Amino acid sequence: MSFLGIDIGTSACKALVLSPEGQVLADCSAEYGILQPKPGWTEQDPACWIEAVRHAINGIVQQFPAEGIQAIGLSGQMHGLTPIDADGQTIRPAILWNDQRNGSEALKVEDLAGGTEAMLELTGNRMLIGYTGGKILWMRKHEPMLFARVAHALNPKDYLRLVMTGEYATEVSDASGTGLFDVRRRCWADELIDRLDFDRSILPICHESDIVSGTVSRQGARLFGLIAGTPVIGGAGDAVAQTLGSGVARPGTLQTTIGTAGIAACALQSPAENPGARLQVFCNAAPNLWHCMGVSMNAGGALAWLRSTLDPHASYDAMTRAAGEVPAGAGGLIFLPYLNGERCPHPDPLARGAFVGLTARHDQRHMIRAVLESAVYSLFDMYQIMQKMGQQGDLVITSGGGSQSQLWRQIQAGLFDCPVVTAEGAAEGGAFGAALLAGISQKAWNHVEEAAQCCHELTRDDPIPADVGIYRQTYQIYTRLYGSLSDHFHALTELEQGH
Ligand code: XUL
Repeated sequence: MSFLGIDIGTSACKALVLSPEGQVLADCSAEYGILQPKPGWTEQDPACWIEAVRHAINGIVQQFPAEGIQAIGLSGQMHGLTPIDADGQTIRPAILWNDQRNGSEALKVEDLAGGTEAMLELTGNRMLIGYTGGKILWMRKHEPMLFARVAHALNPKDYLRLVMTGEYATEVSDASGTGLFDVRRRCWADELIDRLDFDRSILPICHESDIVSGTVSRQGARLFGLIAGTPVIGGAGDAVAQTLGSGVARPGTLQTTIGTAGIAACALQSPAENPGARLQVFCNAAPNLWHCMGVSMNAGGALAWLRSTLDPHASYDAMTRAAGEVPAGAGGLIFLPYLNGERCPHPDPLARGAFVGLTARHDQRHMIRAVLESAVYSLFDMYQIMQKMGQQGDLVITSGGGSQSQLWRQIQAGLFDCPVVTAEGAAEGGAFGAALLAGISQKAWNHVEEAAQCCHELTRDDPIPADVGIYRQTYQIYTRLYGSLSDHFHALTELEQGH
């Protein structure tokens, strides 16, 4: 018997089957695009997730029989709003995690909560831009006719659960990312929900991550080619599932992800204080565990932008090879990666990107290297805040598409000045962690720490001593640049909007 993990990411769905020994027995993925109807808006038609999941499961069952799947774990991009009517139909395209439209509604939520301190008291987190709660407020204000039809507000993976099982349910990690959840008590923040005057019934029932939330329905079985009655587990939001799937289930190790977003995360044994509320402190995938992370909107996404700008046909391998021809520090060229605004360490939707320090001596190779380095500087910014919370790491476990690049791993090792490893399964995104949770629910492993031992080390990169000082010195300049430029970023946006 084995476990199916499904992850609905931002650009693709990945599915895999994991054996009780932690081996990937089958995997398949399917891609989809993002709609950008206005600057700063990002949406997806939920039908494209379902189509991609069908495709991925179809690929899986060619390699492994559906009868052999004992349980299914779900993971997905967090914070998205998928509004559903009373008949279970989607009302409009889902509004995604990196959508920047709800800045004023996010502030409004905090106002209605009684201020930032009260918000932290009620939920443990600020209402950051992009969180589901602010999106619900946005829809109520800007699309009242559509909002009147909203009977359920679901995160992306929970929409998949609905189609697969017929159940309206979520779990604690994704619920944390709505901003409407009390992470200390691991339940909906009813007082806040009342103050926002939301109908509480639009929010789904919330389970712990390893609890069975329903079983594959007959329609679900027909649609996806699965066996009716197979248990579907709560699962976890992708950032949390990815951390577990990298083998991080206890404090002391830093986990980084370089995907479209850049994430630095660690596990916490209690819902710690969150200095300046700049990090996200969420429920983790075990009842006695919490998750702390910073999320940058611009990591792999910035490299994708550079590729499309310089040469859309260039391979990422060729780009990173070119970057490897120039020294650490990119010859004094620094890139500020805030191409889509930023969340952490600077919660600023109007932040913009910049190359700083360009000279006639620089060429494309320096620009690529500066973009790679900027993603790591940003992760290091987050780690500085985590250190203030008492978190120390002498090892970085890295995952996501960016972890496939040896140069990018080497830059992390140099700046963090510690070994950087990749673990088996981590490249699979949240799907591996989701499959582990399915296995825990069926007692294949007793708890997350035992399950995390399936994540064997694949690669290890040690710091190059001569580079450490260069990265640290360049970082000192990088980390001051946002403060120097933010007023100009805001003025440029005003100018742009005035035209
Ligand atoms: C987590 C976050 C991202 C998205 C997309 O807070 O915003 O991890 O879930 O991957």
